[in-house]
Amino acid sequence: MPTQLEEARRQEAHANASTTRHTRIVVTHYGGPDELRVVEEERPEPKSGEVRVRVLAAGVALPDVMMREGIHPETPKLPFTPGWDLVGAVDRLGDGVTGFQAGQIVAALPIHGAYAEFVCLPQHELVPVPPGLDAVEAVSLVLNYVTAYQMLHRSAEVKPGQRVLIHGAAGGVGTALLQLGRLVGLEMYGTCSSRGAPVVSDLGGIPIDYQHQDFVMEIRRLTGKGVDAVFDSIGGTHIWRSRKALRPDGRVVAYGLTGSLQGGRLASGRSGSRHRFRALAIFGVYIAGSWLLPGRKRVVLYSIQTLMRLRRSLFRQDLIALFDLLQQHKITPLIAHRFPLSEARQAHELLGKGGVTGKIVLLCNGNR
Ligand SMILES: NC(=O)c1ccc[n+]([C@@H]2O[C@H](COP(=O)([O-])OP(=O)(O)OC[C@H]3O[C@@H](n4cnc5c(N)ncnc54)[C@H](OP(=O)(O)O)[C@@H]3O)[C@@H](O)[C@H]2O)c1
Repeated sequence: MPTQLEEARRQEAHANASTTRHTRIVVTHYGGPDELRVVEEERPEPKSGEVRVRVLAAGVALPDVMMREGIHPETPKLPFTPGWDLVGAVDRLGDGVTGFQAGQIVAALPIHGAYAEFVCLPQHELVPVPPGLDAVEAVSLVLNYVTAYQMLHRSAEVKPGQRVLIHGAAGGVGTALLQLGRLVGLEMYGTCSSRGAPVVSDLGGIPIDYQHQDFVMEIRRLTGKGVDAVFDSIGGTHIWRSRKALRPDGRVVAYGLTGSLQGGRLASGRSGSRHRFRALAIFGVYIAGSWLLPGRKRVVLYSIQTLMRLRRSLFRQDLIALFDLLQQHKITPLIAHRFPLSEARQAHELLGKGGVTGKIVLLCNGNR
């Protein structure tokens, strides 16, 4: 006798096979969460070398919000489907694809396009997910944990016992940095609002309330000389303040533009393209300034997509290492909320309001 779950899966598979349509989220104008439209259309067909993936879970993150607003450096031309990261099942193979089989669970970082029931991706972009992992936990690793892992080990090259300051420590990347930093044995300080302080403490960090405390003064008071590394997700002039929290030979890893948003919307009146240009120019000035000024305090830029394009093997290697840590229960991604794909707008509204601890995930194709 099939169990209830097996019967439900059989019925879903039958329903899936009997339709050729799927749901996808589309942005046709840059702007607020209302710009996320649900469309029904024919499923895409894989081209030669591509695999069609039936998406089970797609991550929601601030870079998606920034693309929706048109301010992220990677913002695609309109219309586009958001969604940096996904976990799904191999559904159909294009001509010439080898090494994958139908039903196999895979992960990918397409940068945009993951808010859909079916996506076609080049086979070299897919990373097999080890059996037995939960799709929601697994998708939390693809963007946030790879970012955190590569910044810790490849950009800052942290050593046990070093001191680090993590901005936005209660957020998606912030909680990943705390969990991975604890494994290395770092002494960690994390800026957050008062709502995030308990999570930061639970994960081994010393919270600094960014809304009521001056983090540079707090770091000086708590550490004396300053920290070995700062992970700055805020961007703009904040990067220079982060540099002031460093000890000599320390490093600011600048990687985000959270300060460009207020309440999940574009904080300035500048157009998206002007905003992108200005943000990149500020990064450039601070990186150059940090090398020219005395004090041996460097600012370096980290971008997951740039490193992935330059050396895809590192992305694959680091994601596999993280799947391994998840299997061994050495890391436990915090899942803030799960929404069905059709509620992408509500997911963006929630992320924009702030105070979310951990990852928001969209569930697709009946996954729970
Ligand atoms: N370069 C890369 O490769 C890369 C990859 C992934 C993400 N990112 C960037 O990383 C950043 C974080 O992304 P995420 O998905 O982790 O976002 P998230 O989950 O929304 O977390 C952002 C956190 O920042 C906090 N925050 C807001 N303003 C702050 C301030 N002035 N000081 C300190 N904390 C502040 C928020 O706290 P409250 O809500 O409590 O105020 C929230 O906990 C974004 O800028 C994103 O674009 C970059």
